[in-house]
Amino acid sequence: MYIVPSSTAYNVSRRLANILSCSVSGVIRKRFPDNEMYLRIEEDLKDEDVILIGNTRSDSDIIEYLLLLNAIREEGPKSLTAVIPYFGYARQHMRYNNGEPISSKVFAQAVSQYADMIISVELHDNQTINYASVPFINLKIIDPIYEYFKSKKIDYVISPDDGGYDRAKIIASKLKVPAYYIDKKRIDATTVKMEPPDLDYSDKNILLLDDMISTGGTIIKATQMMRDRRAAKIYACAIHGVFAMESNIKIEKYVNELTVTDTIETKYSNITVSDTIARAL
Ligand code: R5P
Repeated sequence: MYIVPSSTAYNVSRRLANILSCSVSGVIRKRFPDNEMYLRIEEDLKDEDVILIGNTRSDSDIIEYLLLLNAIREEGPKSLTAVIPYFGYARQHMRYNNGEPISSKVFAQAVSQYADMIISVELHDNQTINYASVPFINLKIIDPIYEYFKSKKIDYVISPDDGGYDRAKIIASKLKVPAYYIDKKRIDATTVKMEPPDLDYSDKNILLLDDMISTGGTIIKATQMMRDRRAAKIYACAIHGVFAMESNIKIEKYVNELTVTDTIETKYSNITVSDTIARAL
């Protein structure tokens, strides 16, 4: 068995290889003179079980991932599993207006042409699964989040929107504290209207738990509302730290602690998804 890492997933690839006791293949990466991407996998993958790990956050990540899928398939592996810890473009999983593409469908269909199975982590919307023509597992990250927060004194777990309430309830029940959600309405890409639950926040430590942090608008607004209500510590946690426009720098000024998983590798990736992925393989 070999793991082939895209350039977005070196750490999670190494962690997974340790758990599975397999090798991480080298990949030669260069640019052609016109800046097109050149890739070459260094191992012979014929008749091997191969796992390609990489996320698809940027357009360049997507090109790299598709080129590696093809490179592996051309080698004639025994099996090819596409692990995509952060499945980018999943927010455009439907047509909101005429003339728009269904972006997550494009990528799910493209990966299906090469992979025998797709594994991703906390997709933004389950609809993306239906666009794949091969088995598609969407992993939930529960125990690693619980393990990380169990030693901290948390009074409430709060989801910044009702869509994340189930996740908040599961973690809260493991931490043996109540879960709530903020009534959130998105006005546009950067503006949200939020109504916090009516609670006693005074001197309470709050775990704000979301699926992703992008611009940081949601987490910052939620934190401000809790601070106005005299909350003590705010722990902000998300599965995917997208941190668009370096929003992490701003978020750090508001929260007591910022933690994300390593689906996207950042300096806040204190929680690894590698054990959860290993169990699914
Ligand atoms: C929304 O549906 C998601 O759960 C996140 O709350 C959202 O994507 C966070 O985005 P931002 O950091 O830009 O507010």
